[in-house]
Amino acid sequence: MRAIRRYPDSEGVSRAAAQDLVEVARDAIAARGRFCVALSGGSTPRRMYEILSEAPRWARLEWDRVEFFWGDERAVPPDHPDSNYGAAASALLRKLDIPPERIHRILGELPDVEEAGARYQEELARVFAAPVDGLPPIFDLVLLGMGPDGHTASLFPYSQPLTERRRWVVGHQMARLGKGRITMTPPILNRAAEVRLLVTGADKAGVLREALLGPREPERLPVQLLTPEAGRLVWMLDRAAAAELPTEGPA
Ligand code: 6PG
Repeated sequence: MRAIRRYPDSEGVSRAAAQDLVEVARDAIAARGRFCVALSGGSTPRRMYEILSEAPRWARLEWDRVEFFWGDERAVPPDHPDSNYGAAASALLRKLDIPPERIHRILGELPDVEEAGARYQEELARVFAAPVDGLPPIFDLVLLGMGPDGHTASLFPYSQPLTERRRWVVGHQMARLGKGRITMTPPILNRAAEVRLLVTGADKAGVLREALLGPREPERLPVQLLTPEAGRLVWMLDRAAAAELPTEGPA
């Protein structure tokens, strides 16, 4: 199931996404005793993380029942300015004093990104008590963004992980970026119960229209690979990003 929610600006997207996460988290904790979330990297979710770090003032949530994961990571140490873990740790996790055993970061510092991917699959299998070579576990919520080239997580156009059908996490070298990336793959992303795609800014309006209304070309537009099996995919857009979409009705 796919839905699109539009907000006047990026602050509106950030506030709504923070509120939404708390609601999904409460339901998961009530139903299963814990909430497993995969955080997104990039700049778009940072304001949402800041708002969530103030959540104890505006929402009741058992934060010690939240298991934090990442959808992708750059091949850098956790204290590096490009680290997705580092960004979330400073904007959210440290402020909420999340117990370290609830934080499951990707080991971006490992010299071999393939090994980092395999180690993260083992960590997922451990926390979800799932067979490491079986079906991917089911996240309660996966947060993602989209780049101006239509990539999501670290699933870049024409890159090797796009065709992955078995592994949950893979590491790969992105020659164009001159860096390695470790990313969750379509099989695990599409098993999630809830997926939120936060997209803001005019620089993404064109590719967003193509991804939502254009022909299916996932090699060129990897965000089109997000088709949850049984879950819900919600695009959360600001007016600038949604500028080239039909004003109302199904987009
Ligand atoms: C990353 C992200 C990536 C990001 C998009 C959008 O590690 O960079 O996982 O997929 O979501 O590149 O980035 P912005 O939010 O900075 O536009």
